Amino acid sequence: MEKLFGKKNTAVFISGRGSNLRSLIKYSKTKRSLIRIVLVISDNSRARGLKYAKKNKINNIFIKYSNRRSFENRLLHLLKRNKVDIICLAGFMKILSGSFIKKFYKPILNIHPSLLPKYKGLNTHNRAIENKEKYSGATVHIVNEKLDSGKIILQKKIKILKSDSGKSLQKKVLKIEHALYPKAIVRLLTSY
Ligand code: GRF
Repeated sequence: MEKLFGKKNTAVFISGRGSNLRSLIKYSKTKRSLIRIVLVISDNSRARGLKYAKKNKINNIFIKYSNRRSFENRLLHLLKRNKVDIICLAGFMKILSGSFIKKFYKPILNIHPSLLPKYKGLNTHNRAIENKEKYSGATVHIVNEKLDSGKIILQKKIKILKSDSGKSLQKKVLKIEHALYPKAIVRLLTSY
């Protein structure tokens, strides 16, 4: 794959901490990586992930979100200019419109901290515990116009222990997210 087509130019969209961004950068630096991260975009100027991108000399841009249309137009311009082939959403807190998804016309992935289709949206861990679920986990899926609803690429399941709190579960799931996202990218790019 890599030899035939070269690494895919990847943009990562973040809003905060950026621990998944870190794991994607780490993966992108491995010899067999199928991606090259060319752009990190945040709608939050204080996102920690922006600093991390800077440290790694990756083009990092804050875009102020005043309205969806101008935000997305700016995104499309940057994506085109940087010849981006794939977008990875990693803790990005804005919802992309159907029109943006259509215009970009290439894969957009997202990572979500639940076993989709269960627990779309926010506060997934507390909801799973309140509902006495036996398992939780993480999902990487294709982004479509409905929240957390596109085709699932890969999932990883973990057991919820009786002793788990929302916080402890969040920690455990985040850890598996970091391994899952690169694997899902490989799955996507080798399944054409
Ligand atoms: C992760 O739990 C991810 O699944 C969700 O938002 C969180 C982002 O964390 N979409 P980080 O910014 O990557 O550390």
